[in-house]
Amino acid sequence: MRKYIVAGNWKMNTTVPEGVALAKEVAQKAHSLPANVELIVAPPFTHLACVADALKGSAVALSAQNCADHEKGAYTGEVSVKMLTSVGCQYTILGHSERRQYYGETDEKLVEKTRLALEAGLKVILCVGENLDEREAGKHFEVVTAQTKAVLYNFTAEDLMHVVIAYEPVWAIGTGKTATAAQAEEIHACIRTVVAEKFGKEVADDMTILYGGSCKPSNAKELFAEPDIDGGLIGGAALKADDFIAIATSF
Ligand code: 13P
Repeated sequence: MRKYIVAGNWKMNTTVPEGVALAKEVAQKAHSLPANVELIVAPPFTHLACVADALKGSAVALSAQNCADHEKGAYTGEVSVKMLTSVGCQYTILGHSERRQYYGETDEKLVEKTRLALEAGLKVILCVGENLDEREAGKHFEVVTAQTKAVLYNFTAEDLMHVVIAYEPVWAIGTGKTATAAQAEEIHACIRTVVAEKFGKEVADDMTILYGGSCKPSNAKELFAEPDIDGGLIGGAALKADDFIAIATSF
Protein backbone atom coordinates (compact mmCIF):
# COMPACT_ATOMS: atom_id res chain seq x y z
CA MET A 1 0.00 0.00 0.00
CA ARG A 2 1.35 3.39 -0.98
CA LYS A 3 1.82 5.76 1.93
CA TYR A 4 1.15 9.51 1.78
CA ILE A 5 3.82 11.59 3.48
CA VAL A 6 4.47 15.21 4.26
CA ALA A 7 8.01 15.75 5.54
CA GLY A 8 9.49 19.00 6.82
CA ASN A 9 13.14 19.61 6.07
CA TRP A 10 14.12 22.35 8.47
CA LYS A 11 17.59 22.66 6.88
CA MET A 12 19.92 24.88 9.00
CA ASN A 13 17.14 26.79 10.70
CA THR A 14 15.94 27.27 14.30
CA THR A 15 17.84 27.06 17.58
CA VAL A 16 17.20 24.03 19.78
CA PRO A 17 14.51 25.76 21.91
CA GLU A 18 12.82 27.11 18.77
CA GLY A 19 12.94 23.67 17.18
CA VAL A 20 11.45 22.00 20.25
CA ALA A 21 8.63 24.55 20.32
CA LEU A 22 7.95 23.99 16.60
CA ALA A 23 7.96 20.20 17.01
CA LYS A 24 5.55 20.43 19.95
CA GLU A 25 3.18 22.61 17.95
CA VAL A 26 3.33 20.25 14.96
CA ALA A 27 2.71 17.21 17.22
CA GLN A 28 -0.24 18.89 18.86
CA LYS A 29 -1.85 19.97 15.59
CA ALA A 30 -1.14 16.65 13.88
CA HIS A 31 -3.92 14.95 15.82
CA SER A 32 -6.51 16.14 13.34
CA LEU A 33 -4.83 14.46 10.35
CA PRO A 34 -6.18 11.41 8.55
CA ALA A 35 -4.43 8.15 9.52
CA ASN A 36 -3.11 7.49 6.01
CA VAL A 37 -0.92 10.62 6.04
CA GLU A 38 2.44 10.33 7.77
CA LEU A 39 4.08 13.48 9.06
CA ILE A 40 7.86 13.65 9.41
CA VAL A 41 10.09 16.42 10.72
CA ALA A 42 13.79 16.63 9.89
CA PRO A 43 15.53 19.07 12.24
CA PRO A 44 19.32 19.66 12.40
CA PHE A 45 21.46 17.01 14.16
CA THR A 46 21.80 19.10 17.34
CA HIS A 47 18.02 19.09 17.80
CA LEU A 48 17.26 15.42 17.26
CA ALA A 49 17.33 14.12 20.84
CA CYS A 50 15.26 17.01 22.21
CA VAL A 51 12.81 16.93 19.32
CA ALA A 52 12.43 13.15 19.75
CA ASP A 53 11.39 13.90 23.30
CA ALA A 54 8.98 16.62 22.21
CA LEU A 55 7.34 14.22 19.73
CA LYS A 56 6.81 11.42 22.23
CA GLY A 57 3.24 10.14 22.22
CA SER A 58 2.53 11.71 18.82
CA ALA A 59 2.44 10.04 15.42
CA VAL A 60 5.01 12.46 13.97
CA ALA A 61 8.15 10.67 12.80
CA LEU A 62 11.68 11.97 13.18
CA SER A 63 14.23 12.22 10.38
CA ALA A 64 17.83 13.36 10.07
CA GLN A 65 18.90 15.48 7.11
CA ASN A 66 21.99 13.41 6.31
CA CYS A 67 24.22 10.68 7.71
CA ALA A 68 27.86 9.63 7.45
CA ASP A 69 29.10 7.29 4.74
CA HIS A 70 31.09 5.27 7.30
CA GLU A 71 29.90 3.18 10.19
CA LYS A 72 32.10 4.77 12.88
CA GLY A 73 35.60 5.94 13.63
CA ALA A 74 37.91 8.84 12.87
CA TYR A 75 35.55 11.02 10.81
CA THR A 76 35.49 14.32 12.67
CA GLY A 77 32.22 16.17 12.44
CA GLU A 78 30.25 13.27 11.00
CA VAL A 79 27.15 11.60 12.44
CA SER A 80 26.62 7.85 12.05
CA VAL A 81 23.42 5.95 11.36
CA LYS A 82 23.67 4.25 14.75
CA MET A 83 23.84 7.63 16.47
CA LEU A 84 20.68 8.58 14.61
CA THR A 85 18.73 5.45 15.55
CA SER A 86 19.96 5.78 19.14
CA VAL A 87 18.13 9.11 19.51
CA GLY A 88 14.95 7.79 17.91
CA CYS A 89 15.29 8.72 14.22
CA GLN A 90 13.19 6.60 11.89
CA TYR A 91 14.28 8.30 8.67
CA THR A 92 17.15 10.14 7.09
CA ILE A 93 17.04 12.42 4.07
CA LEU A 94 19.87 11.63 1.64
CA GLY A 95 21.12 13.27 -1.52
CA HIS A 96 19.46 16.63 -1.03
CA SER A 97 20.54 18.94 -3.86
CA GLU A 98 22.14 21.31 -1.35
CA ARG A 99 24.39 18.45 -0.22
CA ARG A 100 25.10 17.40 -3.79
CA GLN A 101 25.89 20.99 -4.77
CA TYR A 102 27.79 22.34 -1.72
CA TYR A 103 29.24 19.24 -0.06
CA GLY A 104 30.27 17.01 -2.93
CA GLU A 105 27.66 14.33 -2.31
CA THR A 106 28.19 11.82 -5.13
CA ASP A 107 26.00 8.92 -6.23
CA GLU A 108 28.70 6.53 -4.94
CA LYS A 109 28.54 8.10 -1.48
CA LEU A 110 24.76 7.95 -1.59
CA VAL A 111 24.81 4.23 -2.31
CA GLU A 112 27.03 3.73 0.75
CA LYS A 113 24.93 5.97 2.95
CA THR A 114 21.72 4.30 1.81
CA ARG A 115 23.20 0.88 2.52
CA LEU A 116 24.29 1.88 6.03
CA ALA A 117 20.95 3.53 6.77
CA LEU A 118 18.89 0.55 5.66
CA GLU A 119 21.11 -1.88 7.55
CA ALA A 120 20.61 0.20 10.70
CA GLY A 121 16.83 0.14 10.22
CA LEU A 122 16.54 3.75 9.08
CA LYS A 123 14.20 4.57 6.21
CA VAL A 124 15.65 6.77 3.51
CA ILE A 125 14.17 9.80 1.77
CA LEU A 126 16.32 9.97 -1.35
CA CYS A 127 16.28 13.29 -3.19
CA VAL A 128 16.69 13.65 -6.93
CA GLY A 129 16.17 16.61 -9.25
CA GLU A 130 17.59 18.58 -12.12
CA ASN A 131 19.04 22.09 -11.97
CA LEU A 132 17.92 25.03 -14.10
CA ASP A 133 20.53 24.52 -16.86
CA GLU A 134 19.54 20.87 -17.16
CA ARG A 135 15.84 21.76 -17.31
CA GLU A 136 16.45 24.46 -19.94
CA ALA A 137 18.52 22.01 -22.00
CA GLY A 138 15.58 19.57 -21.89
CA LYS A 139 17.61 17.05 -19.91
CA HIS A 140 15.35 16.75 -16.85
CA PHE A 141 14.09 13.24 -17.58
CA GLU A 142 17.60 12.03 -18.32
CA VAL A 143 19.11 13.56 -15.17
CA VAL A 144 16.41 12.30 -12.82
CA THR A 145 16.45 8.84 -14.40
CA ALA A 146 20.23 8.61 -14.00
CA GLN A 147 20.15 9.82 -10.36
CA THR A 148 17.39 7.38 -9.48
CA LYS A 149 19.05 4.39 -11.13
CA ALA A 150 22.50 5.22 -9.74
CA VAL A 151 21.29 4.63 -6.20
CA LEU A 152 18.17 2.44 -6.32
CA TYR A 153 19.48 -0.15 -8.75
CA ASN A 154 22.04 -1.26 -6.14
CA PHE A 155 19.28 -2.43 -3.82
CA THR A 156 16.58 -5.08 -3.70
CA ALA A 157 12.80 -4.83 -3.96
CA GLU A 158 12.70 -5.61 -0.23
CA ASP A 159 15.04 -2.66 0.48
CA LEU A 160 12.83 -0.36 -1.56
CA MET A 161 9.98 -0.83 0.90
CA HIS A 162 12.06 1.41 3.17
CA VAL A 163 12.92 4.08 0.60
CA VAL A 164 10.93 7.16 -0.33
CA ILE A 165 11.92 9.28 -3.33
CA ALA A 166 11.66 13.06 -3.27
CA TYR A 167 11.71 14.85 -6.60
CA GLU A 168 13.05 18.34 -5.97
CA PRO A 169 13.80 20.41 -9.07
CA VAL A 170 16.70 22.60 -7.92
CA TRP A 171 15.27 25.67 -9.67
CA ALA A 172 12.13 25.41 -7.52
CA ILE A 173 13.85 25.12 -4.13
CA GLY A 174 13.50 28.23 -2.00
CA THR A 175 12.78 30.33 -5.10
CA GLY A 176 9.02 30.59 -4.82
CA LYS A 177 8.92 29.09 -8.33
CA THR A 178 7.00 25.83 -7.98
CA ALA A 179 6.97 23.26 -10.73
CA THR A 180 3.47 23.12 -12.16
CA ALA A 181 1.48 20.05 -11.18
CA ALA A 182 1.87 18.77 -14.74
CA GLN A 183 5.66 19.31 -14.75
CA ALA A 184 6.01 17.49 -11.44
CA GLU A 185 3.62 14.68 -12.40
CA GLU A 186 5.49 13.78 -15.60
CA ILE A 187 8.75 13.41 -13.67
CA HIS A 188 7.08 11.43 -10.87
CA ALA A 189 5.56 9.09 -13.45
CA CYS A 190 9.00 8.72 -15.04
CA ILE A 191 10.57 7.82 -11.65
CA ARG A 192 7.86 5.23 -11.09
CA THR A 193 8.59 3.72 -14.50
CA VAL A 194 12.31 3.59 -13.71
CA VAL A 195 11.47 1.68 -10.52
CA ALA A 196 9.02 -0.63 -12.35
CA GLU A 197 11.59 -1.49 -15.04
CA LYS A 198 13.90 -3.08 -12.51
CA PHE A 199 11.67 -4.10 -9.62
CA GLY A 200 8.25 -4.64 -11.20
CA LYS A 201 4.97 -2.75 -11.22
CA GLU A 202 3.88 -3.75 -7.75
CA VAL A 203 6.99 -2.34 -6.08
CA ALA A 204 6.70 0.83 -8.18
CA ASP A 205 3.02 1.24 -7.31
CA ASP A 206 3.80 0.96 -3.59
CA MET A 207 6.59 3.53 -3.70
CA THR A 208 5.96 6.92 -2.15
CA ILE A 209 7.25 9.74 -4.37
CA LEU A 210 7.24 13.22 -2.84
CA TYR A 211 7.48 16.60 -4.52
CA GLY A 212 9.69 19.33 -3.06
CA GLY A 213 10.35 22.91 -4.13
CA SER A 214 8.34 25.90 -2.93
CA CYS A 215 5.45 23.65 -1.93
CA LYS A 216 3.04 25.61 0.28
CA PRO A 217 -0.58 25.55 1.44
CA SER A 218 -1.71 27.44 -1.68
CA ASN A 219 -0.32 24.93 -4.21
CA ALA A 220 -0.20 21.63 -2.30
CA LYS A 221 -3.74 20.59 -3.22
CA GLU A 222 -3.14 20.84 -6.94
CA LEU A 223 0.18 18.99 -6.70
CA PHE A 224 -1.12 16.21 -4.46
CA ALA A 225 -4.12 15.66 -6.74
CA GLU A 226 -1.78 14.18 -9.36
CA PRO A 227 -1.78 10.37 -9.43
CA ASP A 228 1.98 9.97 -8.91
CA ILE A 229 2.54 12.72 -6.33
CA ASP A 230 2.22 11.15 -2.90
CA GLY A 231 3.05 14.13 -0.71
CA GLY A 232 5.77 16.69 -0.23
CA LEU A 233 9.21 17.42 1.14
CA ILE A 234 8.76 20.89 2.51
CA GLY A 235 11.44 23.47 3.28
CA GLY A 236 10.41 27.03 4.16
CA ALA A 237 6.74 26.26 4.81
CA ALA A 238 7.70 23.53 7.31
CA LEU A 239 9.04 26.19 9.68
CA LYS A 240 5.50 27.35 10.47
CA ALA A 241 3.39 24.63 12.11
CA ASP A 242 0.14 25.98 10.67
CA ASP A 243 1.46 26.01 7.10
CA PHE A 244 3.00 22.57 7.50
CA ILE A 245 -0.26 21.11 8.83
CA ALA A 246 -2.26 22.90 6.14
CA ILE A 247 -0.08 21.20 3.51
CA ALA A 248 -0.65 17.84 5.19
CA THR A 249 -4.41 18.33 4.96
CA SER A 250 -4.22 19.01 1.20
CA PHE A 251 -4.71 15.42 0.02
P1 13P B 1 11.48 24.97 -0.11
O1 13P B 1 10.15 24.35 0.25
O2 13P B 1 11.93 26.01 0.84
O3 13P B 1 11.52 25.39 -1.56
O4 13P B 1 12.57 23.78 0.03
C1 13P B 1 12.32 22.57 -0.54
C2 13P B 1 13.36 21.62 -0.07
O5 13P B 1 14.51 21.72 -0.45
C3 13P B 1 12.97 20.56 0.87
O6 13P B 1 13.98 19.62 1.03
